[in-house]
Amino acid sequence: MSIQLVTTVAGLKAESVRLLNAKQGTSQALVPTMGALHEGHATLARTAVENNDVVVASIFVNPLQFGDAVDLDRYPRTLDADLALLEEQGVHLAFAPSVEEVYPGGEPLVRVTSGRLGEKWEGASRPGHFDGALTVVAKLLHYGMPAAGLTAGSAAGAAAGGLPAYRAYFGQKDAQQLALVRQMVADLNFPVEIVGVPTVRAEDGLALSSRNRFLSDEERDAALVLSRALRLLEERANAHEPLDLDSALALVESQPLVSLDYFDVVDPRTLEPLAENCRETPFRGEGLALIAAKVGPVRLIDNMPLNS
Ligand code: PAF
Repeated sequence: MSIQLVTTVAGLKAESVRLLNAKQGTSQALVPTMGALHEGHATLARTAVENNDVVVASIFVNPLQFGDAVDLDRYPRTLDADLALLEEQGVHLAFAPSVEEVYPGGEPLVRVTSGRLGEKWEGASRPGHFDGALTVVAKLLHYGMPAAGLTAGSAAGAAAGGLPAYRAYFGQKDAQQLALVRQMVADLNFPVEIVGVPTVRAEDGLALSSRNRFLSDEERDAALVLSRALRLLEERANAHEPLDLDSALALVESQPLVSLDYFDVVDPRTLEPLAENCRETPFRGEGLALIAAKVGPVRLIDNMPLNS
């Protein structure tokens, strides 16, 4: 079956109900994206397709989460290629609304605030970014929710006390965003299961990102120190050795094209730095190593779960 493109919320609701009924489906999934899709997104979409009867992928470049109009303009728009990639993974519906469809009254007056969790790490470098991202995720989660109108007596209607299961898929590459989405869904009681999907890497270890296309060959080579530094920590955590963040840091700082923003080991849920002594004593706990740096003009982030 080929993918269907819808551009309005009404179209999305109508088509997802139709598909769920036609398939007698019991589950619906949303894969939110901003387009410029790569193998990392393909993995999200495939995971959703393997586990749900109806899968919607949204493609929307959300102005609210860009601090800088130049960055927003520069963000790659590749709708045809994105649709082809989603179709290959078996996604049923692509939802690609206009800015006016999502924000009919202009910028929303009321937004989701990401609070303390959204102010650190990426939030410190990109003020307002997570408020904008969470606001659109809240809207997208509402749009993608299995709608009223399911045929009485359908398998979907019978499942889970009458409602189909609803899941949304996010990449672990954006670890802070994933932590914030989980927190929002828990704090505000959204009826959706959030599924985190592991980061996809190129063979040489570079985490896939829509921004990698802006790296020159030399910058791409330089960027490899980020994943190498994370791997060093992973190896130490696996061997229950002290993390020795300083050696990993020295590796990053040895690369002149890389300008480090932050590099630390944090609690995976609160994103608070772990106690200093994890650097000097055998590391047995659970952690998340976070790194962000500019490589040439391109800001990259990466992370590695430790002992999770
Ligand atoms: O991760 C992204 O691509 C975006 O932040 C998201 C979740 C689609 C919201 O615009």
